[in-house]
Amino acid sequence: MTAKTGEAEGVVSFVLSGDELPDWTPGAHIDLEIRPGLTRQYSLCGDPADRGRWRIAVLREEPGRGGSRHLHDVIMPGDTLRAGEPRNNFPLEPAPGYTFVAGGIGVTPLLPMIREAERAGADWTLHYGGRRRDRMAFTTELARHGERVRLLPEDEHGLLPLAGIVAGSGYPVYCCGPEPLLAAVERVCPAERLRLERFHPREIEVTEPEREFEVVTSMSGHTIRVAPGESILDVLDAAGVPMPSSCREGTCGTCETPVLEGEVDHRDSVLSESERAAGKSMMVCVSRARSARLVLDV
Ligand code: FES
Repeated sequence: MTAKTGEAEGVVSFVLSGDELPDWTPGAHIDLEIRPGLTRQYSLCGDPADRGRWRIAVLREEPGRGGSRHLHDVIMPGDTLRAGEPRNNFPLEPAPGYTFVAGGIGVTPLLPMIREAERAGADWTLHYGGRRRDRMAFTTELARHGERVRLLPEDEHGLLPLAGIVAGSGYPVYCCGPEPLLAAVERVCPAERLRLERFHPREIEVTEPEREFEVVTSMSGHTIRVAPGESILDVLDAAGVPMPSSCREGTCGTCETPVLEGEVDHRDSVLSESERAAGKSMMVCVSRARSARLVLDV
């Protein structure tokens, strides 16, 4: 790590340097090993064309597992951090224009999207909310875009006027921020126009008790039972079918697994409504089965 910069009250950016770092696209995130046993996901918020540097920004969160506090207080330029390959669950699709909506640190994946929208000559606006102006990162960097960027700190403007923002353009809406903002935008924006990224699990309404079901692994030929309270990921692991995983709470997309047969009870925060309905893949760390049997392509 070669640079650590205060970007706003409670927000610090880090530049990770390396030779020929892997390619990434706007919306991508990396797994960062903060210390052994503690890995968190952070959006890349620099320039994808810069193959020598990755930039992330970290909000200091007092509750939680201490990852952000460790990065803020302990990690210094010159320290070595291990990062995984970038993954993108929030890709920017080509469009004539975009409506970007950010809450607080959720602005980070939108920064390279804005760079890409500018490069493509797209029409775009960013509606950026935060508790207070001094807690909103990258406002100086964004100021060069003039009226395309609307800074709306809550103590000056109240909550983001999401219904008006969504109704104000027919463009796709790309939104990242805290769960209340994501839940609110989901209530006012048609699902087909909305792209979200969640770093904390969405609230899942579970209406029935969990039931046991069977998982068949088509390639390795295992048939295993998953009891209530167990995860498919853990049961596969115990059966000698280890799957890649990171967050284990349905937010990072690492454990996405193709589904060949059966109906999935999706409990992740990654797949879109249409991807859930298609039922072609699932996050095996949290999702379960509605049918008595699932056949997975592993
Ligand atoms: S391990 Fe992150 S979504 Fe399953």
